[in-house]
Amino acid sequence: MEHDALIEKVVTLSKNRGFIFRANELYGGLAGVYDYGPLGSILKNNIKALWIKKFVEEREDMFLLDSAIIMGENALTASGHVGGFSDPLVKDLVSGKEYRADHILEENGINVEGKTLEEMTELIKEHKILSPEKNPLGEVREFNLMLKTSLGSSSDSSSQAYLRPETAQGIFINYKNIVDSMHPKIPFGVAQIGKAYRNEITPRNFIFRLRELEQMEIEYFIHPSEWEKIFEYWREEMLEWLELVGIDMSKIHEVEISEQDRAHYSKRTIDFEFEYPFGTKELYGLAYRTDYDLKKHEEFSKTKLHYQDPLSGESYTPHVVEPSMGLDRTILAVLLSAYKEDTLGDGAERSYLALPPQIAPYKIAVSPLVKNKDHIVEKAREVFGLLKSEFGNVTWDDNGNVGKRYRRQDEIGTPFCVVVDYDSFEDNKISVRDRNTGEQERVSFDDLVSYFKEKLA
Ligand code: GAP
Repeated sequence: MEHDALIEKVVTLSKNRGFIFRANELYGGLAGVYDYGPLGSILKNNIKALWIKKFVEEREDMFLLDSAIIMGENALTASGHVGGFSDPLVKDLVSGKEYRADHILEENGINVEGKTLEEMTELIKEHKILSPEKNPLGEVREFNLMLKTSLGSSSDSSSQAYLRPETAQGIFINYKNIVDSMHPKIPFGVAQIGKAYRNEITPRNFIFRLRELEQMEIEYFIHPSEWEKIFEYWREEMLEWLELVGIDMSKIHEVEISEQDRAHYSKRTIDFEFEYPFGTKELYGLAYRTDYDLKKHEEFSKTKLHYQDPLSGESYTPHVVEPSMGLDRTILAVLLSAYKEDTLGDGAERSYLALPPQIAPYKIAVSPLVKNKDHIVEKAREVFGLLKSEFGNVTWDDNGNVGKRYRRQDEIGTPFCVVVDYDSFEDNKISVRDRNTGEQERVSFDDLVSYFKEKLA
């Protein structure tokens, strides 16, 4: 499938089937902001639940946190975000439109690794680079990406606040609270899922580059001597997760980030890139943040943020390995990996989402073959109640004919459709259709629950 066609199809399906809508669409939309619709919300929640199961519930060394989105200026000054969380911005001198200077230079084949703002301005002049609208460009300047707000009615600087640009800082500023309340032994981690905000200069590519985004992050606190081993361990955990959540592993590439391109706090970073239809770009990052953040918060808050080893008695500032995973980019990569088109045995063309059952919005759809035969509807309702109580996300679908229901359930990624028909009263069985193959088999009422327990495991 053509790359452009694939993204178009996924965007259209997402809107038409209730996964993802443009935010504020009724009023013309908001750039870089999206709403998750009824099925997108379930998909998102299922991914979060799977992430928490893998990284928190199945482990003994991980604590979950839900820290505030609003953060005070002092904490984000300490972390370096107030001073340095910025991108290079350049203005089209005719239209006034603003662009990422590094992106414009890279699109023109110019390497910007390690270049200062002044050097980027020079490169634009030297290579006579124009804006995408073919107009001259101005000076490159720094643009801070944080969204500012203020608290209360007072306008003094103490009321200045920000929407957090990453969930990570909420973890660092709670380090002491977690150590004092939970008494963990190093190594241990703190995991958090939540919204973050970045005033991206050019939000684009559907839910790839957003201004309101959601992150799933872990700050893993370690003894500094162990960082290389632990970094490698998290690299493998992230690969395992990518596979578990249903991302096409043949489209994943690991990239070692050079020193010049690493964030100021990182001594080593690997990006996990995904082959999106609009190019191979970052999906996740794994960074060795050293003790940078805890040291900075210690300095600015004048509060000791140490760890005292109960066995050796050694007191030190823990170092941190950070697996950071964007939730929206996960959803985009999952949808792009799952989207398939084929022709079934009866010649019918269809598209479907081959989502792993664990994250599919509905696990099973239950239907009566016809709507006007009470005994069929009654039996189907009974099956629906039984499966819903066992498997939760089971949907009732009696819209249109059975063929149309199959097409709809295929498109939203429901792994199984169950239909009660006339024969069900003869053989005590119902028909179960598999989304991926389109094939049907008859399963006895008595075996239904155990059948699906095995299939949905
Ligand atoms: N705490 C580290 C951190 O925030 P980052 O590379 O800036 O590092 C981590 O972001 C992840 O968050 C990215 O790998 C990506 O998945 C996601 N992400 C970052 N900016 C994003 C944006 N504007 N829109 C959507 N996802 C974004």
